Amino acid sequence: MISILAIESSCDDTCAAVCTDGNIVSNVIANQEVHAKYGGVVPELASRAHMRNIVPVADEALKRAGLTLHDLDAIAFTQAPGLLGSLLVGAQFAKSLALVLDKPLISVHHMQAHVLANLIGEKKPSFPFLCLTVSGGHTQIVKANGPLDLEILGETLDDAAGEAFDKSAKLLGLPYPGGPLIDKYAQTGNPLKYSFAKPLPEGINFSFSGLKTSVLYFLRDAQKEDADFIKKNMHDICASVQHTIIEILMKKLIRASIQTGIKEICIAGGVSANSGLRNAVKKTGDEKGWNVYIPDFQYCTDNAGMIAITAYYKFLGGQFATLKDSPSARAAW
Ligand code: KG4
Ligand code: ZN
Repeated sequence: MISILAIESSCDDTCAAVCTDGNIVSNVIANQEVHAKYGGVVPELASRAHMRNIVPVADEALKRAGLTLHDLDAIAFTQAPGLLGSLLVGAQFAKSLALVLDKPLISVHHMQAHVLANLIGEKKPSFPFLCLTVSGGHTQIVKANGPLDLEILGETLDDAAGEAFDKSAKLLGLPYPGGPLIDKYAQTGNPLKYSFAKPLPEGINFSFSGLKTSVLYFLRDAQKEDADFIKKNMHDICASVQHTIIEILMKKLIRASIQTGIKEICIAGGVSANSGLRNAVKKTGDEKGWNVYIPDFQYCTDNAGMIAITAYYKFLGGQFATLKDSPSARAAW
């Protein structure tokens, strides 16, 4: 039996999880409320909150798994990418545990882990599969040839899909992170009421900065006519913005599937919690004969379960880290 404790602290959630023989047996997340009033994550406050949270969160993950520190076979942590101060807290905690317990250490790339969240649970994609990874900092289409053999086929040239949600939400006066609120209001809005720019760069790359600018100008002009425009039309605006983002994502995902001939299709990352995107992938999957895989909500947004499952495959592949492996804000994979 192989049990791994994994820590994720790349942004503003302090997370710990335990994976036993490829099953996630506990997954604990402490959200940091402190950032909401600043309209975005404040790095210094995030690091401090991680320091307060990390011991109780790891303790709870072990307790829920019914294990003690001595039952563990390895300790894993998110090495990159993310906020450096936040990553350092998780890395230092994991390294200290590995050193004191004399257990192997495993470093994990956050974006690879988002993809491998699809290997959690009963229904798993077979290799090769495609994954549309959509988070607050990244938008990628990845071809997974094996658990440790991931290839980026396309990515965003500017903003990420999550940023397109969050920045549009900010223009609408909604608090950070705005993605889940746009999702909520969109459910009772008309997605075809307003149209926004839909930049579609070459191949299977993405671009979202033009959409954000188009929302900005649209709202500015509409508010000149009616100062209460946003308040009166919030649901339709949210539905239309969401519809535009989903159309861009789906066009590229369809293209990637045609180009590679792969019909095993996954989504991952915080934006994969979006109900409109989940429905669009399922509907397109039915039409195109795809096998569609979508992680449980708890494994879409940042979590340590995805770090733990990735660490499990790295353990099997003998890919261990050393105490000298430092976190990095931007490391490529
Ligand atoms: O993967 P994640 O938790 O953190 C990063 O690695 O960035 O993704 C966070 C992003 C944020 O932009 C947030 O607004 C977005 O995921 N998000 C959503 C939803 N839930 C989270 N966007 C749209 N609809 C949602 N339901
Ligand atoms: Zn993430």
